[in-house]
Formats: sequence, C-alpha cells, structure tokens
Amino acid sequence: MSVILGIDIGGSGIKGAPVDVQTGKLVAERHRIPTPEGAKPADVKKVVAELVRHFQHSGPVGLTFPGIVQHGVTLSAANVDNDWIGIEADQLFTDATGCDVFLLNDADAAGLAEARFGAGAGVRGTVLMLTFGTGIGSALIHEGVLVPNTELGHLWLRDKHAESWASDRARENDDLNWKQWSRRASAYLQHLELLFSPDLFIIGGGISKKADRWRDLITLERSQLLPAALLNDAGIVGAAMYAGAQVGTVRPPRPALKPQRVEASATMSKPAKTTAKAGLTGAK
Ligand code: BGC
Repeated sequence: MSVILGIDIGGSGIKGAPVDVQTGKLVAERHRIPTPEGAKPADVKKVVAELVRHFQHSGPVGLTFPGIVQHGVTLSAANVDNDWIGIEADQLFTDATGCDVFLLNDADAAGLAEARFGAGAGVRGTVLMLTFGTGIGSALIHEGVLVPNTELGHLWLRDKHAESWASDRARENDDLNWKQWSRRASAYLQHLELLFSPDLFIIGGGISKKADRWRDLITLERSQLLPAALLNDAGIVGAAMYAGAQVGTVRPPRPALKPQRVEASATMSKPAKTTAKAGLTGAK
C-alpha cells in the first residue's frame, strides 16, 4: 500500500488526510484547521506544517492551491492573497514541513480524483470537471491524463466573466433561485461543450452536495453530466495521487515564469472587445 498525505487549501479550511493512492481511500480520519485570516503564505505554511505534524508524516505530500501552479510556482491569486503571486510555493512548503511537497491547482486535484475514483471512474475519453464555489475551477482530463491549469472559470462569454456570473458565489450575490442559476450554468457548460466535446462533465464544489436542486435543470447537447462523488475528499485524494505520480521523477530546472494577471471576480473588468456569442441568450 502506498500512502501519501494529501492536503487541500480551501477558503475556509485547510484539510488533510493520508491517502492510499492505489484505492483512493483515506486511511485515517481527515483533519481540518481553519484557514488563517487573509490566507497569507507565511500563515498558510504554518498550518500545513501543523497538519504534517498531526499525522506524524514523513513521506511526500501533495498540496492543492486555488490558482495557477506552474512548475511549483504559484502564478495567480484570483480569490486569495496577492502575496502568492510568483512565489516558489513548493519550496516554501518543503522547507516548512521537511517533506517533499508537490503542488497543483485545486480543481486539477479534484478532477484527477473524480476521474479515477469518483464520478468518472471507468469513463473513457474526455472528462471535464468544473468546481462551482467562490470561483469556478476546471480540470481537463483525457484518458486519465490531466492538462493542468485550464482556468476555464476565467473564460469570457460575450460580456460575462464566467466565474463572476455563474459561480455559487454569483448565485448567492445575485440572489438567484436554482432555476435561474441553472440557466446560467447551462449556457456556460454548453459553450464548454462546444469547445471541448467532453464525454462527461463532473460538477463539483459546494453545489455538489445539493445536486438534487440543479441536476435536472441543466441542459446539454451531447455530453453526460454527473455531480461529483467524492465531495469534500476529492482535493485531498487528487493531491496525494499527484504527489504519488511525481515521486521519483526528476524535477526539471524551473523555467523563468511570468505571473498571470487574473483579478478577483469582484474587480474583474471586461476586455476591450469580446466576440464570443454562443449560448448566452435568454439567461438572466
Ligand atoms: C482560480 C482557479 C481555482 C478556482 C477554484 C479560480 O478563481 O483562478 O485557479 O481553481 O478559482 O478555487
């Protein structure tokens, strides 16, 4: 049995558990520590180190981050503190914990876990996972292989920034009922369907617990749609799977990386000109 510690950094909690990466099962009860106010790197690293101590873990660690992670460097901060932008976060956490830490985007982790052990288990072809919460995260997986950092929550459709318009936070902020939100989600998903032709959409994030409210209201042309099956554990399991796949591989020298300008949804301004028109008519 190969057990790896998976840790998921979320907006309200940082949670972890040791995972058997062959089965996707947690081998101990997960432990959650509230995310420190402001979620600054220096504070988050202390919490991650505390989780490692809690499990008396000494092997590799997989860790999620809610932004772009390229070669271990955090390059965007749409819904977290700007201090994350451009730092070698894998090294920061490796130094803080004394363990080899492997970092990936939160939705990518959830997608890896769902595609292998959750709603996508046994599905051939292309799986597109979307997490609807404060933001919208995305993971594109073909035959088990992840294309990292797709960031499809930051797609612009006509004059709508997808994440600001169709996330769960947008549903709450705009006081939408489930029918109204589902119209927005359908328009967004139909556009993604046109672009990626996924065999299966997996819908995760906070709304996956309330699937009975929206499942029958979302309409697609060709793809299948399922709510996420692993719920709160997907990030932990996917992080551990990712670390498991990286262990023993040589980390290539870090290329020079430029931070990505992705503003928080609330301050997002629309690009000068957009041309995408598909699928938005009629949605509130
Ligand atoms: C970030 C993504 C993240 C998603 C969910 C978005 O704002 O840009 O990287 O996966 O939120 O946390």
